Amino acid sequence: MKLRQSVPKITGNGPHREYTSETTYRRIAPHLRRVGVTRVANITGLDRVGIPVYNAISPRSFDIISVYNGKGATEIDAKTSAVMEAVERFAAGLPMRPVAVASYTELEASGRRVLDPRSCNFEFHRAYTLDTPICWVEGFDLLNECAVLVPQFLAGYYLNFHEVPCYPVSTTNGIASGNSLEEAICHALCEVIERDDWTMADLVSNRLAGFAAQEDGTPIGAAISAWAQDLHPSVDPDSLPERAQFFMDKFHAAEIDIEVKNITSATGIPSFQAVVSEFISDSFSRSHHGIGTHPDAEVAVVRAIAEVAQSRVVDIQAMREDITAAGEPVEKALYHVRRSNRANPDAWAIKPSSRPVRLQDVPTHPSSDVMDDVRTLLDRLRARGLDQAIVVDLSPPAVPATVVRVIVPGAESWTVDRNKIGPRAREAWDGTLNTIRSAYAKRQQRTTGEQESNA
Ligand SMILES: Nc1ncnc2c1ncn2[C@@H]1O[C@H](COP(=O)(O)OP(=O)(O)OP(=O)(O)O)[C@@H](O)[C@H]1O
Ligand SMILES: [Mg+2]
Repeated sequence: MKLRQSVPKITGNGPHREYTSETTYRRIAPHLRRVGVTRVANITGLDRVGIPVYNAISPRSFDIISVYNGKGATEIDAKTSAVMEAVERFAAGLPMRPVAVASYTELEASGRRVLDPRSCNFEFHRAYTLDTPICWVEGFDLLNECAVLVPQFLAGYYLNFHEVPCYPVSTTNGIASGNSLEEAICHALCEVIERDDWTMADLVSNRLAGFAAQEDGTPIGAAISAWAQDLHPSVDPDSLPERAQFFMDKFHAAEIDIEVKNITSATGIPSFQAVVSEFISDSFSRSHHGIGTHPDAEVAVVRAIAEVAQSRVVDIQAMREDITAAGEPVEKALYHVRRSNRANPDAWAIKPSSRPVRLQDVPTHPSSDVMDDVRTLLDRLRARGLDQAIVVDLSPPAVPATVVRVIVPGAESWTVDRNKIGPRAREAWDGTLNTIRSAYAKRQQRTTGEQESNA
């Protein structure tokens, strides 16, 4: 797989890509029927926020949904993002011809480079073992610059698969489209890091912090909970750049509070979560969120805020097949999109931190070249001990778009797929839990000491 050394970005306030959204849309529009899109609709007006959101509708999609969405600062950005999402999902479900049908054990013994199915954070399907013959396709490992075989099931996105899949779930994490291989790889790497960061932040600052507060209703319980929450603090809204303010102002004008959290992890690639909360009705979601990750902190925060607007409008429209009424049971893999009519004002995502960070204090790696972004993302993954980043080219024929799946073995994704918490997330969880336990132990010692001296 050959990537160009340099892919200069179109400057301006649009997406950080090789072409403007106008050019991308003009290139893809004649092919929409080919990828199943029959209608593109502007749904911005369904909500009072007013950030552009579009649908790209593919009635015969072989996906769990047939309505894809896009958002952006301008109508053309949103429209392009919606149709490119449809292209991405169309391509990911296309049949592929495997280059090998064999078990992992056989391939490993033959000396071929092969992805170890145990290295990805998914439980095995109950009928799968390393001796089960499965289909493999060719990927390219960008960190080791070599070809590597990956299970076909992991490369594409399948609801029904022709053989025993290695994992019980198929996800779209790390699938992305773009005008070129470099653009698609950049977006896909950002998405993998986004889900990894989101999982870590959710486990530590949401769940553990929540347990600490619940377990112990005393001031020390509250202090420990606040400490765990502040591991991923709020971003001071006054520190946001003009492009992000543009979106924030729309929420404020609609009288909707918005909270932005810094969920950047040790990779040092900026990641943010934005959450809004509003009571609309009992059967409707009480809060909506958006996540954004990019080497440039400004792009990442803008993505997170724009995604909240998309979450609201799409929920109001209620046309996606995976939308259910609040409280209705959903399968585990859909937990992250289910409606919930409860919102705890003390929950990490909603409550402003006592010590917010300024955006300028979050690491950022701005660049004017897509390949600089790709190199930064790869360097940061390597620095965190993630030593493979495998790309499978899923590009559809006869369509001027590139689609890839990027697989980073070891990256966490539990918050989106609820399948398996991997070693890195377990380490983050255990580390935080140990700190909490020792804080409680110290308090216990103090209390016992006080009781003894009183006696
Ligand atoms: N202007 C654009 N030019 C080319 N491709 C684009 C453009 N905007 C978005 N895309 C592609 O369209 C897809 C959707 O992008 P978008 O940023 O809207 O969603 P996302 O954050 O990946 O959403 P999700 O979290 O639902 O996967 C991605 O594959 C992205 O690379
Ligand atoms: Mg995506």
